Amino acid sequence: MAQTPQAKYRKDYQSPSHTITDLDLTFDLFDNETIVTAVSQVKQLKDSNTLQLDGESLKLVSVTVNGEAWTQYQETEGMLELNNLPQEFELVIVTEIDPEANTALEGLYKSGGAFCTQCEAEGFRRITYYLDRPDVLAKYTTKVIADKAAYPFLLSNGNRVAQGDLEGGRHWVQWQDPHPKPAYLFALVAGDFDVLRDHYVTKSGRNVELEIFVDKGNLDRAPHAMTSLINSMKWDEERFGLEYDLDIYMIVAVDFFNMGAMENKGLNIFNSKFVLANEQTATDTDYLGIEAVIGHEYFHNWTGNRVTCRDWFQLSLKEGLTVFRDQEFSSDLGSRAVNRINNVRIIRGPQFAEDASPMSHPIRPEKVIEMNNFYTLTVYEKGSEVIRMMHTLLGEEGFQKGMKLYFERHDGTAATCEDFVAAMEDASGVDLKQFRLWYSQSGTPTVKVSSEFNADKQTYSLTVEQSTEPTHDQKDKQPLHIPFDVELYAANGDVIELRCNGRAVGNVLDVTEAKQTFVFENVAEQPIPSLLREFSAPVVLEYNYSDEELVFLMVHARNEFARWDAGQMLLAKYIRSNVTRVQSGQDVELPAAVVDAFRGVLLSQDLEPAFIAEMLALPSHNEVSGWYKQVDVDAVANVLKAIKVQLANELIDEFSAIYHSLKQDAYTIEHAAIGQRSLRNTALAYLAHTELGNELAEKQYADANNMTDTIAAMSAANSAQLACREALMASYSEQWKHDGLVMDKWFALQGTNPAENVLQVIKATMEHEAFSLKNPNRTRSLIGSFLNMNPVRFHAKSGEGYKFAGDILRELNSSNPQVASRLIDPLLKFRKYDEERQALIKAELEALKSMDNLAKDLFEKVTKALEA
Ligand code: TRP
Ligand code: ZN
Repeated sequence: MAQTPQAKYRKDYQSPSHTITDLDLTFDLFDNETIVTAVSQVKQLKDSNTLQLDGESLKLVSVTVNGEAWTQYQETEGMLELNNLPQEFELVIVTEIDPEANTALEGLYKSGGAFCTQCEAEGFRRITYYLDRPDVLAKYTTKVIADKAAYPFLLSNGNRVAQGDLEGGRHWVQWQDPHPKPAYLFALVAGDFDVLRDHYVTKSGRNVELEIFVDKGNLDRAPHAMTSLINSMKWDEERFGLEYDLDIYMIVAVDFFNMGAMENKGLNIFNSKFVLANEQTATDTDYLGIEAVIGHEYFHNWTGNRVTCRDWFQLSLKEGLTVFRDQEFSSDLGSRAVNRINNVRIIRGPQFAEDASPMSHPIRPEKVIEMNNFYTLTVYEKGSEVIRMMHTLLGEEGFQKGMKLYFERHDGTAATCEDFVAAMEDASGVDLKQFRLWYSQSGTPTVKVSSEFNADKQTYSLTVEQSTEPTHDQKDKQPLHIPFDVELYAANGDVIELRCNGRAVGNVLDVTEAKQTFVFENVAEQPIPSLLREFSAPVVLEYNYSDEELVFLMVHARNEFARWDAGQMLLAKYIRSNVTRVQSGQDVELPAAVVDAFRGVLLSQDLEPAFIAEMLALPSHNEVSGWYKQVDVDAVANVLKAIKVQLANELIDEFSAIYHSLKQDAYTIEHAAIGQRSLRNTALAYLAHTELGNELAEKQYADANNMTDTIAAMSAANSAQLACREALMASYSEQWKHDGLVMDKWFALQGTNPAENVLQVIKATMEHEAFSLKNPNRTRSLIGSFLNMNPVRFHAKSGEGYKFAGDILRELNSSNPQVASRLIDPLLKFRKYDEERQALIKAELEALKSMDNLAKDLFEKVTKALEA
């Protein structure tokens, strides 16, 4: 480590000394020496004639102020400081950069044959010296010059205003973006593509050209992305009253990309994983992921671009809100219950785990070393839950009034989370004073509930106690404002009206104190409570349900989410008790009543297939691990497997009947068809653990006319280690080895292979022609799935899994620290494992810490983990 990286604190925010009103960029593109000329109109805002510009890995060619060569400057690590400047001036900076050598995929780099950019969060400073901060908003003009044959398409933000040819086979295009924007929303693409074109007429009559750019030959995989874009534009008009504001909207799919996608104004750049799909190459999950991400980036146009963030500590202002919007979009278009279940699984699994880890932080972080480390489940997913709680407290109408006021106040500016909450509060009249604590307090609250029925007084009381354990970043915790959604049922399934203090009350209780009792009147019989309905707050619920009550709720709860949640609680009880049994050498036991409850779900005539599939899905190993301070990896895996095997064998007739009755002839991506495939493939995943498994998986693979069924067959064969596994894997690789994106599914199956020799297999797989550590998707599929989804083998007592992770991290530390930093997360949680494993993981972290070129991404995480 050359220099110890410095942290920045939210409390130290200072507005900028200068602003830049206009920026005129020229890119003369060459693989190894691209020349960038940046002409800025600069205005002094504070009493200072010194301007400090951000810049990294740049070769400075020249500096000019108001037409004069400027010599009064110092170039230091990460910064160019200009001195003795006039109050207003034109600044011309020329830099040289090397896109070909840029493997970090931040700034200007090459993906395959194309030039592209990624500027969020602080990548623009790798293009030119600039005020690279989101509260400096400028109008951009961009001229792109490149070889015409190799790069026929030259793209940037806004509208194309001019173009021409040059000598030597080069050409240029000039773009102008009328909307002022911060540097992180800048984008440039140069390459050769196939283009899918369509158009959309907004509700006020603006005609918008829609263009999706994909690698040549991939046009037949672009239509679903286009449909999703059009659906997004329509939905945002209908639900939020928000219209698009330019005449063109472009999406470019690239193969080398660190994250999912990027909302650059008018020119989204996407990981090709979230664009390309046809039924032969993509699963239903891929289709739904594309819809969600296309929506997400489109919705950023208002929540992120029109109103942007004042500083990066405010990231959840745009991300939490935009995730909320994309979740609502998916729920309005598809199944609300299934969407909610999947979002809650993410919170209860990986987000709760993050809260409990050394990386714990509030949705609005207080302290950051590397901003890229804070694009987290907490900022995104918990951030969305915080928005959702406001939606619950205000109702749809109040919430939309709040959105309207938010845009009236802040359109065209850089705002804060506080600005958002204030708009919601002012528009609705709902007091959100205590609620604001969700922005500054980290960790997962536990809500412990006890109940008492008083037959004489005909009252029923719920006593609610909330507490939040200290987290790595924050010791003292206060009571939060928790919207707590409840319903009471009579034994015959009727809903009992909620009355408090002589008045009917709504389902959402305001829990605001550490301990609080709610007394309901006119309750004639001992009720069965449905608690934390819809997961109305991101908390852990503790309530002593009997098995009978949970089975009752699985059948009688009025809303589907509550039914699913009751099923999960029933499973949780028996997972916990069986982990204890297994640890004391006993066999796994599941009572007949529990098996029958799930039999009832399978036989249900009125539940949607997609929902039945969710009911039958066991919690993941990761989610279960979160229930324990220290987790017995092998015991948890054994219990989950044994429960699966028992359910499979006891319900074999029901699963078989479903499996055979849900066979489809033709493939469609209608939601009903997706649901049927989901249930059928859930049945297959269970049947894989019976004597029917091998034949069914083999036949399904052979007969499949779509990727969903192909992968389901392979996945069943992989998890249950069926005899046909190797043959199916070989056949798939033979068919798809030239297509990295399609091979990612195969790499993920190799990574999650439960076989004892999986590490050997993974090392051999790294030699596969489609694999490259330079490609983040390949790396995540093979290596990421091993580290995150193959707990038994990754945590092998020998320590070989940890050592392998260390080697990969050392390599990625130099080539792509962002990817390295995402991969390291499971190692940070070493305190969850036994002493021996702790020591082995710690040794890997120490080895990383001692590297002399450790990137600040990894430095921040490794030092946090080793502290305390
Ligand atoms: N703003 C992007 C989104 O959520 C996230 C993103 C894309 C990103 N690429 C990135 C964040 C690179 C950090 C670094 O839609
Ligand atoms: Zn986003």
